[in-house]
Amino acid sequence: MNIGILNAGGDCPGLNAVIEGAVGAASARGWKVIGFYDGFEGLLSTPDNERWRELTPENCHNIRSMGGTILGTVNKGNFTVKSGVGGRMQIADEVLAASKATVERLGLKALIVVGGDGSQTIGNELRAIGLPIVGVPKTIDNDLGATDYTFGFWTAVSVVSDNLDRLRTTADSHKRMMVVEVMGRHAGWIALYGGIAGGADVILIPEIEFKLEEIVKKVELLKALGQREIIIVVSEGAKIGGKLLTLDEETKGEVRLGGIASFLSTKLETITGIETRYCVLGHIQRGGSPIPFDRVLGVRCGAKAIELIEQGKFGETVALHRNDMVSMPIEEAVRTLHLVDGESQLVEQAKEIGISFGDSTTYRI
Ligand code: F6P
Repeated sequence: MNIGILNAGGDCPGLNAVIEGAVGAASARGWKVIGFYDGFEGLLSTPDNERWRELTPENCHNIRSMGGTILGTVNKGNFTVKSGVGGRMQIADEVLAASKATVERLGLKALIVVGGDGSQTIGNELRAIGLPIVGVPKTIDNDLGATDYTFGFWTAVSVVSDNLDRLRTTADSHKRMMVVEVMGRHAGWIALYGGIAGGADVILIPEIEFKLEEIVKKVELLKALGQREIIIVVSEGAKIGGKLLTLDEETKGEVRLGGIASFLSTKLETITGIETRYCVLGHIQRGGSPIPFDRVLGVRCGAKAIELIEQGKFGETVALHRNDMVSMPIEEAVRTLHLVDGESQLVEQAKEIGISFGDSTTYRI
């Protein structure tokens, strides 16, 4: 039996682990795996311009430790979904038809789509025209309601934590304040876990409305206590006066978030008089080798996808639930964004150990 695999959207540490897991489990069943290059674009292969290669346990040996993806990925392109009538996503008919033709020509009995909510929505569109799709959720943002954790998230948290350790020593030497911007889009998970792990004094996330005067209050307090360095972690999706800061206007797909650390650093330096620098961790959070948790989760996702194919569970996506790999319909998986609950025990405990979220509720000093 022949099956295909592709990854789409932004890359994420652990993608290669998923590929290796899927190839291993497929090969154990005697199946052949085709890996499409550059996300869904690979489906637009023609006999004159093939954009795939066969994946074997030999050519995927130990790729689980590698960052990025051996197949390449694209998050804008021919499959960029556009909102049509009634907000329904639409992909051009000729693009859908060409994809179907490729799957048929290569005799694929299933196609594994590794991607975030946008890519899973595209997968669902392909499913609607009869392609046998199985999904694997992917994002460093950890914002998919379907699964307890997405692979790549804990690697990103670990990068944030490591970098806060580094920034702290230079901030301490210079008696400076550092404002560190992290990824996560509309979810504050990376800032929350990375900030707690890296000892941030203030964590600003999209889910908790913050006030400048509350941050200043906390900073003044720390200054009065004689703390030399002050670390503020801010999610790229945190809002100023209810507005997102973006790097460009919406073109194809989603806006690029960014700019809040620079904005806050100027404001806070002016108000507090403390020399302040900002640092945008950016794509460093997505690059490099996945940490062990993400390697394990990645290979498990790949193996589970093969099991779903064997059971004929098309239109389903794999998910992690209480350390078990389970599955659920793709539609259900992309329906809810998994956001931080500002009143959760985790946030309360962070406040308990002295972290401010820039809101007016109390934190221990
Ligand atoms: O969704 C993952 C993510 O890394 C977000 O955290 C970030 O906003 C976005 O992708 C960046 O995308 P790009 O690679 O297109 O700049």
